[in-house]
Amino acid sequence: METTDLKIPTHIAIIMDGNGRWAKQRHRPRTFGHTKGADVLEQILTDCDELGVKYLTVYAFSTENWARPYEEVKVIMDLFRKYLISSVEKCARNNVRARIIGDKSKLSPDIIDAINNLEEKTKNNTGITFQIAMNYGSRDEITRAVRMLAKAIEVGELHSDEIDESTIEHYLDTADCPDPDLLIRTSGEVRLSNFLMWQLAYTEFYFTDVLWPDFDKAELLKAIEKYSSRDRRYGKVSK
Ligand code: IPE
Ligand code: IPE
Ligand code: MG
Repeated sequence: METTDLKIPTHIAIIMDGNGRWAKQRHRPRTFGHTKGADVLEQILTDCDELGVKYLTVYAFSTENWARPYEEVKVIMDLFRKYLISSVEKCARNNVRARIIGDKSKLSPDIIDAINNLEEKTKNNTGITFQIAMNYGSRDEITRAVRMLAKAIEVGELHSDEIDESTIEHYLDTADCPDPDLLIRTSGEVRLSNFLMWQLAYTEFYFTDVLWPDFDKAELLKAIEKYSSRDRRYGKVSK
C-alpha cells in the first residue's frame, strides 16, 4: 500500500515495551535495551512527523516502574534527563511542541527544571505535539484530577452539578489534546498497564510481537495500514 493511500491517525499513542527482553536476547544488561529504545523513539518521532501525525504520546516510565532495581531506574532517569536537555535545540529545529504527562512532583528537582524549560521553550511550536508519559499512571492521573476538582468545589469555583466529561478532561494531564486514534503496544503483551485509560475509550488497538528496540518505520506503517483498513471497513458498514 502506498503511504498516500493511508489514513494517517491524528494522534498515535505507544506503549514502548520489550527493551529488557531485547537486551537479554543479546546477553546484555537491560539498560542496554533502554538506550537503544531511546534512539528508536527519536526516529519514530521523526517518522510520525513526516507522515503527518499531529500528536505522539509515548509511555516511558509508569508509576509502577519505581519498583524496578535502583540501577535500572537510575539509567532510565539519566536517559530522560539527557533527552530533555538535548531536545530543546532539536524541538526548535523541527518545530516540535513537547509536553510531559504524569506526576512530575515525584521526579528529581533538576529533571523538573529541565521539563519546565523544555515545555516553556517549545510551547509556541506549531508542528507535532510530542507527549512523554513519565511517572505516569492512569489511576494516579484520575486521582490527581479528582483532587483538583474537589479543591475547586471547596473554594466555590465549581458546583458539583456543573461537572460533566469535559470538566474531568480539563483536569487530566492531557487537557486540550485530542484522544488517541491508534494505540500501539510492542513486545506481545496485550494489556494497558495503567496507560491513558480515560483517553483510550474509543481508540483502535494494535499489538505486535516486535520488541520496542526493533520497531521502525516499516513496523509503524504496518500499524497504520491496519488502522486504515479497520476504518474503511467501518465506513462501508455505516453507509
Ligand atoms: C519498556 O521495556 C521500557 C520501560 C518500561 C521503561 P521493559 O523494560 O518493560 O522491557 P521488558 O518488558 O522487560 O522486556
Ligand atoms: C509499561 O510497560 C510501561 C512502559 C512501557 C513505560 P511495563 O513493562 O512496565 O508493563 P508491565 O509491568 O509488563 O505491565
Ligand atoms: Mg515491559
